[in-house]
Amino acid sequence: MTKKNFDQKVKRTKKLHKAIKINLKRRTIIVDDKLVYNKEVPIPSWIELSIIDVCNRSCSFCPKADPKVAPNTYQKMSMLLIEKLTNDLKKINYQGSVTLCGYGEPMLHKGVFEITRKLAEASYVEVVTNGDTLKPQSISKLYNSNVNKLLISLYDGPKQVEKFKKMAKEAKVPDDFVILRDRWHGADKDYGLKLTNRTGTIDIGNQDKLGTFTYCNYPSYSVLIDWNGDVFLCPQDWQRRITTGNIMQEDFFDIWTGKAITKYRKNLLEGKRCDSPCTECNAEGTILGKKHAEEWRKIYKIS
Ligand SMILES: C[S@@+](CC[C@H](N)C(=O)[O-])C[C@H]1O[C@@H](n2cnc3c(N)ncnc32)[C@H](O)[C@@H]1O
Ligand code: SF4
Repeated sequence: MTKKNFDQKVKRTKKLHKAIKINLKRRTIIVDDKLVYNKEVPIPSWIELSIIDVCNRSCSFCPKADPKVAPNTYQKMSMLLIEKLTNDLKKINYQGSVTLCGYGEPMLHKGVFEITRKLAEASYVEVVTNGDTLKPQSISKLYNSNVNKLLISLYDGPKQVEKFKKMAKEAKVPDDFVILRDRWHGADKDYGLKLTNRTGTIDIGNQDKLGTFTYCNYPSYSVLIDWNGDVFLCPQDWQRRITTGNIMQEDFFDIWTGKAITKYRKNLLEGKRCDSPCTECNAEGTILGKKHAEEWRKIYKIS
């Protein structure tokens, strides 16, 4: 019997931008290199945290720019929630990354340094920012708060490269602490992004048609946690209608192995984007998380 191809090798019509290739390589190392188990099931390796629900920018390709989809509510994640999550992650010997990114601009949360210091007790920590509030002092403070990588999205143009390189030098952080991502490109280059429709909320640029991709590994290796502890399927889900649990009410591991996420995970491992929000998602879901997907397939006896 030939091995089924779950990779969706749909012929690429678009070249991957250099910055995206570098980003994917970094994420592959975090997501795929080490599979960790708790009670014989694979635990995630990528957790995205949305610590604040506001952004100071309004980018054309981002759902945050549309107040009907993702209004700025200014809600913030509490330290109580961060402590609960850190404890839950310690309990399962978490070895992956917690990335501060999500539905807003993490550097607008005044508690960001305390948050990263706590999370770093249990995880590799990354911060993704538009860089607008950064100063040499805050870069060095993030480094001293045990952040592992600071990823700066450069939306304004190549002139930002020199500015942030100078800042990082003044901050006296190691050269590889800061990663600059060029995202100033136009629609013809997908804005320098691996552009997706963010579950039907963004209709801009030359995007993959809905239905191009059916399999998806996201719920096999990742989750997104919102400011109030709601756990969503993946960073693509900007509809935020269906939660799979809440961190303040349940243990992280119980949510990860719970009924709600299991239903999505199983269907997506069988190539079925049959429930909302996946029905409206055009993201290529199998780029990362191959080892996790393989393990879950064995557990669910999907051949
Ligand atoms: C919502 S932002 C939050 C973090 C921070 N405010 C920033 O801009 O880097 C998270 C990431 O999603 C990217 N992004 C926004 N809209 C996107 C889309 N439609 N497709 C792919 N990536 C997108 C942004 O460029 C950024 O790297
Ligand atoms: S199909 Fe899309 S919305 Fe559903 S889990 Fe995958 S990436 Fe997320």
